[in-house]
Amino acid sequence: MNSPTQLIDQFNRKITYVRLSVTDRCDFRCVYCMSEKMTFLPRAQLLTLEELEWLGRAFLELGVTKIRLTGGEPLVRHNILQLFQGLGRLSGLKELVLTTNGSQLIKMAQPLKAAGVKRINISLDSLNPARFQNMTRVGKLEGVLRGIDAAIQVGFERVKLNAVILKNRNHDEVIDLVQFAVNRGIDISFIEEMPLGTIGSHDRAEAFYASEQIRDDLKSSFTLIPSTEKTAGPSKYYRVAHTDTRVGFISPHSHNFCDTCNRVRVTTEGRLLLCLGQEHSVDLRRVIRANPGDIEPLKQAIIKAIAIKPQKHDFELDSAPQILRYMNMTGG
Ligand code: GTP
Ligand code: 5AD
Ligand code: SF4
Repeated sequence: MNSPTQLIDQFNRKITYVRLSVTDRCDFRCVYCMSEKMTFLPRAQLLTLEELEWLGRAFLELGVTKIRLTGGEPLVRHNILQLFQGLGRLSGLKELVLTTNGSQLIKMAQPLKAAGVKRINISLDSLNPARFQNMTRVGKLEGVLRGIDAAIQVGFERVKLNAVILKNRNHDEVIDLVQFAVNRGIDISFIEEMPLGTIGSHDRAEAFYASEQIRDDLKSSFTLIPSTEKTAGPSKYYRVAHTDTRVGFISPHSHNFCDTCNRVRVTTEGRLLLCLGQEHSVDLRRVIRANPGDIEPLKQAIIKAIAIKPQKHDFELDSAPQILRYMNMTGG
C-alpha cells in the first residue's frame, strides 16, 4: 500500500515537526523537571540510534520537514553524533535542530554544526552560579556559559536560550537574562512551568510566575515590539527594539496555541505521543522491531496514530499531576 505523503489530523492540522527524545538520562537534575532520585530506563528499552534514524526516515517520507532531538540531555547519549550525521544526510529534512542544557557544547558545538544542525536551544535559568546549581541541583554555570559562547562562535543560524521562571527562585533575573541575550545577539524564551510528573522540591502552584508578569517586569528596561511571525510553536515572540534579539513567552497556562499545533513527539522508548499534555500514544518500537527492514508498517502505524491526536492539552497546576511522565521522557 502506498502511504500518503502528508500527515493531517482530524482538526486539519498538518504535522510537519517531530521531536525525538534520544535519552531520558541527564547530567543535571533541574527541580522543575525531575525528582531528586530518578531511576532511568534500562538500555534495552531505548530505541537504538539505528532505530531512531529509521524513525526519522519514516517521518520524512510522510512529509515531516523538521526534526528536533531532545532528552533528557541528548548530548550525553553515547555516540549521539552518529545519529545527527545520519539524519543530516536524509532527504526531505529542512531543519535539524537540538534542545540541550549546554553542558557538552564546548566540545560538541563544532561537530554538531558539521553534521548539519541548523538551530540550537539551550536552557539557562540563572546567571548566578549558586542559584544555577540550586535550580539544576548539580549543574555548573561556567561550563554552560562557555558552551553558549562556543555555539555562537561556530555560527548556528539561531541560538535560543530557554529559561523556566519560578517565583522566588529566579523571577528577579528576567532583565539580566534578556540583557545577556541582547549582548550576544541571540534569542530567549521564558517558559511557565508545566505540571509533568511529581517533583517534590516545590509547590508548582506557588512557584507559578505568569508570562504577563515577566513582560511587565521587562518594560522598565526594554521596548518589546510584538512580532507578527507565526511559528506554529508555543512561543509568542516580541522583538527587543534596536537589537537582534527576540523574546518569546511559552505560556501553556495562559495562552492557548493548540489550534495551530504542528508537532508530535517520540519518547525515549519509542512511544509516539500525540500531545505533550495528554497520554494518547502509540508504541512504535514494537512496530519497528516486528518489521525489520520494512518501513511501510511503521509509516502506516504513524498515519493511524495521527487520527487520535487530541485537540488540546489541559494542564492544571493546583490538582495532582494528571500527566505522570516526567519531562525528561519527552524533552518538552
Ligand atoms: P521550536 O520547537 O523550534 O518552536 O522551539 P521550542 O521553543 O518549542 O522548543 P524547545 O525544545 O526549546 O522547548 C521550549 C519549551 O517549549 C519546552 O518547555 C517545551 O516543553 C515547550 N513546548 C514545546 N512544544 C510544546 C507544545 O506543543 N506544547 C506545550 N505545552 N509546550 C511545548
Ligand atoms: N515545565 C516547563 N519547562 C520544562 N522544561 C523541563 N521541564 C519543564 C517543566 N516541567 C524545559 C527545560 C528545557 C525545555 C526543553 O523544557 O528547561 O529548556
Ligand atoms: Fe536535564 Fe533538561 Fe531536565 Fe534539566 S530540564 S534535568 S537539563 S532534561
